[in-house]
Amino acid sequence: MKRIAIYPGTFDPITNGHIDVIERASRLFDKVIVTVAKNVAKTPLFTVEERVKMIKEVVKKFENVEVDSFDGLLVDYARMKGAVAIIRGLRAVSDFEYEFQMALMNRKICDITTVFLVPHEKYTYLNSTIVREIASFGGDVSNFVPKIVEKMLKEKFKSTQNLRRKV
Ligand code: COA
Repeated sequence: MKRIAIYPGTFDPITNGHIDVIERASRLFDKVIVTVAKNVAKTPLFTVEERVKMIKEVVKKFENVEVDSFDGLLVDYARMKGAVAIIRGLRAVSDFEYEFQMALMNRKICDITTVFLVPHEKYTYLNSTIVREIASFGGDVSNFVPKIVEKMLKEKFKSTQNLRRKV
């Protein structure tokens, strides 16, 4: 039987820290499905389609990684995909409380196991909000995200930067 894991997130946008987690997961499971959450409480910069497109481009080097999106409860999606585990990255102690609550709740409603993977320590400080903020001011994000993400961030913020220059 194939051991499938789901790696859910907002991925707005995917960063090198997420990719580190995907790579580790791809070595542990037969198949990893990276799935973009459609209905998070956040207001994403990128559409679901744009986020899926960027992730697809980035993970094509991993043979056993697929990309998808989902709506509704994560556990329903995991069940539908026949997943044995949910993958989450733990960067620092500050992630723990929220992740612990989610893992326990998901286990309570569906008896699914969450596997926490620790990305390389060089990504401890990284998150998507910081990347978006730096990019919005025209800063260099090339050390934090793959090329395609850097390009799409530049395109997204081109108009706002032009506006700022005019003011
Ligand atoms: N490297 C870099 N950054 C990382 C990271 C890593 N390895 N792991 C997490 N992050 C960052 C993300 O960039 C994100 O940053 P941001 O807040 O600045 O956007 C933050 O940590 C956490 O985001 P993410 O991993 O995308 O998770 P999320 O909290 O946005 O998503 C869902 C959580 C979608 C998995 C959860 O809300 C969910 O399951 N929703 C579906 C509904 C449901 O089932 N709810 C019940 C849950 S019990």
